[in-house]
Amino acid sequence: MKRLFLRFLILVVTTGLLFTSSCSKEGGDTIKVGEFASLTGKEATFGQSSHEGTLLAIEEINAAGGVLGKKLQLLTEDTQSKSGESATVVNKLVSRDGAVAILGEVASTRSLEAAPICQQSKIPMISPSSTNPKVTETGDFIFRVCFIDPFQGTVMANFASKSLKAGKVAVFTDVKSDYSKGLAKFFKEQFVKNGGQIVAELDFNGGDKDFKAQLTAIKAANPDAVFVPGYYTDAALIAIQARQLGLNVPLLGGDGWESEKLTEIGKDAVEGHYFSTHYHPDVGSDLSKRFVDNYRKRWSGKNPDALAACAYDSALVLADAIKRAATTDGTRVRDALATTKDFKAVTGNITINAQRDASKAAVILQVKGGKFKYLETVEP
Ligand code: PHE
Repeated sequence: MKRLFLRFLILVVTTGLLFTSSCSKEGGDTIKVGEFASLTGKEATFGQSSHEGTLLAIEEINAAGGVLGKKLQLLTEDTQSKSGESATVVNKLVSRDGAVAILGEVASTRSLEAAPICQQSKIPMISPSSTNPKVTETGDFIFRVCFIDPFQGTVMANFASKSLKAGKVAVFTDVKSDYSKGLAKFFKEQFVKNGGQIVAELDFNGGDKDFKAQLTAIKAANPDAVFVPGYYTDAALIAIQARQLGLNVPLLGGDGWESEKLTEIGKDAVEGHYFSTHYHPDVGSDLSKRFVDNYRKRWSGKNPDALAACAYDSALVLADAIKRAATTDGTRVRDALATTKDFKAVTGNITINAQRDASKAAVILQVKGGKFKYLETVEP
């Protein structure tokens, strides 16, 4: 009797599982969208800001009736800013949870880890803000809604040459990060093209605490400025230790500097330094203004950063593609994403090019009074 009951139980459970998994894609009453983000760990503010932007977009889309008559359901996974986690959680989202598309990640190294899984499963992936060119080179299911680092590197090299009139620059690269290595290379190429000289090239490992040996070598090379294409925690510590060593030249960074933690950790030491990024809430269209208002309302008065804006846009671009595809079939949504043209978004108009990247303007910001002050916009 007991055994019979057990068999019955197993039968019920397995049919239940089969039923939910077969319904999860087309048949269910929601459309599942997967999101992977660094909600905790070294780059936690990247994941948190992105998640807040993504969720706001999903809530707004649902409030306006959803997509194809269904609500979007956001399934969020934390990559903990750790290597290895992105593959694990994206595998789960795709194979177990039945996500029809994936949004994420911010850090290029983590996007690169998950992209082959999406490509193989024919599930479209959209990175909101990974800028290394290799991310979308993974394959035709991998997209992004932001510019790439050959452009960002050029923007900061020209800023160094033309605005700062720097002739000699040192470059300090995080060799653990694909983003940092790529951006350093593109910056150097353009800076040399401008007639500038790279007087020192030093490396660090993301997460290091002591940068004094390398900074001492940089100081000895007597540069006019130092390019530090890293993430905010490292950049802030580098700025503090540069000051302590009497290296008092401008530091330049890329979008990886963007976090309120940069000034929280770096305080006075980051004052006056410059970085490039995707968006600033003070400039932009009516769409951007509405986004800032709604974001502040939704997230208790917090101002959105570029990460939130790019993530918001990634969800809008996906919803638009699913609508145009009129199905959640991965290949058809991929085709629709590839033909995204002049889509009005918060960070600018988005056209997906043949490389599945978006060609968009960059903004240059300066740290002033603990805030990020808008300086200029550079068109592609
Ligand atoms: N572009 C960075 C990368 O590819 C990530 C990033 C984007 C960080 C925007 C901050 C702001 O790794």
